[in-house]
Amino acid sequence: MKEGKVTFISMSANETIHFGERLGRLLAPGDVIALVGELGAGKTTLVKGIVQGLGVMDKHIVKSPTFSLINIYKGRIPVYHFDAYRLESIQDMTDIGSDEILFGEGVSLVEWADNVYGALPKEYIEITLSVISESQRKIEINGFGEHYCGILDKIRGIRTE
Ligand SMILES: Nc1ncnc2c1ncn2[C@@H]1O[C@H](COP(=O)(O)OP(=O)(O)OP(=O)(O)O)[C@@H](O)[C@H]1O
Ligand SMILES: [Mg+2]
Repeated sequence: MKEGKVTFISMSANETIHFGERLGRLLAPGDVIALVGELGAGKTTLVKGIVQGLGVMDKHIVKSPTFSLINIYKGRIPVYHFDAYRLESIQDMTDIGSDEILFGEGVSLVEWADNVYGALPKEYIEITLSVISESQRKIEINGFGEHYCGILDKIRGIRTE
């Protein structure tokens, strides 16, 4: 399978949101983004940007769906925001009806995706955030499959603008 990678350092929460917004504009129906990183790494912050790029008007409605497991936002494409923090198995994920969503026509954003890799489609983008300092995060974006490598090529373009 074709794979691609882009890495950069975000210097602030706003920069992470801004990057997310530009990524969100590139997404199409059915796209899946897996978000990985420790508590407070910036997964939800990045989601705030992505949903703005998808045309969701109010980024303040975006919260980690730690207890609800999934939030749904209305953008130019429906956005499904999962939080697998409390899930222990792929079965837990499929029990909440993830298949219909992940293999459907919305955009899926999955926090703590590393808990449920087996429930994800074969092709997706994985974004790993790691804390460097209070305001700096390393952001590693891996694309799996032709379609997502195409998105990564465009991300490389916007990163060097
Ligand atoms: N460069 C940065 N990028 C993203 N967030 C940052 C950055 N610098 C500081 N922050 C702060 O780090 C925190 C990240 O919190 P956020 O809720 O996005 O993390 P999370 O990974 O979703 O955590 P959780 O696993 O608890 O849901 C926010 O308070 C944000 O303002
Ligand atoms: Mg979160």
